[in-house]
Amino acid sequence: METIEFSERLIERLKGATNVVVLTGAGMSAASGVPTFRGKDGLWNKFNPQELANVDAFLNDPKLVWEWYNWRRELIGKVQPNLGHYALVDAEAYFPEFMIITQNVDNLHQLAGSSNVLELHGNVMRNKCMDCAAVYNGKHIDHNNIPRCPDCNGMIRPDVVWFGELLPQDVLQTAQAKAAAVDVFFTVGTSSTVEPAASLSYMAKGNGAYLVEINPEPTPLSDYADESIHIGADVYLPRLVIELDKIKRWTM
Ligand code: OAD
Repeated sequence: METIEFSERLIERLKGATNVVVLTGAGMSAASGVPTFRGKDGLWNKFNPQELANVDAFLNDPKLVWEWYNWRRELIGKVQPNLGHYALVDAEAYFPEFMIITQNVDNLHQLAGSSNVLELHGNVMRNKCMDCAAVYNGKHIDHNNIPRCPDCNGMIRPDVVWFGELLPQDVLQTAQAKAAAVDVFFTVGTSSTVEPAASLSYMAKGNGAYLVEINPEPTPLSDYADESIHIGADVYLPRLVIELDKIKRWTM
């Protein structure tokens, strides 16, 4: 296993922490084989989000948008959580309050077994009605014959947040309240460029949290974070759990 040094400052903060939050982005699932959005192999390098991930695109060509989401759903349906996801399940046991706030729509935290996951951008495995927002399970959608809502006859769409749309306001408010009152905040696998998710890390540190970024590449957050560790989430997080276990033994 690769050697990772844990700073005294981080260990001290973890020892006293009652409330820990992990904000995750697409890099969290990279080791599972889910493509990220930005960067050279990112989805937004190959596809145009204007054509696929906003409401006008859907109204203009719902078949194309559903074809793309069916493809993503199929891809995501075939992958498994990675060691990083499972490490976050184990990490729950070490703190009275532990929450994952994710920008990911891939359901992999839940599949791994994490019990406290806040989905900022929805879930690609669910559908919802365009008009009345009723939520339906994510059964396969025939893009040539897009179903209608049984209640209001609105068109069925993926239950994800598209560009130009507001995040679910109750979810965002919970995330902001958490970020404002947390001891240690980990920002994992995100380019920290998409708002309002990106602001949560700044909010956390601004309110006194110790802010740790985990990302193989530097991001706009790197200089602001207390520590920015340039390593994959699937490598760092299992190592973090070993460290948490050591801390628990020393403090018992
Ligand atoms: P991005 O694609 O913008 O960023 C992914 C980040 O993951 C990059 O900074 C990579 O360096 C990093 N990364 C790659 N492999 C990694 C690994 N093994 N471990 C840790 N980090 C790794 O994805 P997000 O920041 O999640 O929005 O993007 C935010 C939002 O933009 C997404 O939720 C999506 C997208 O448009 C919606 O779908 C609404």
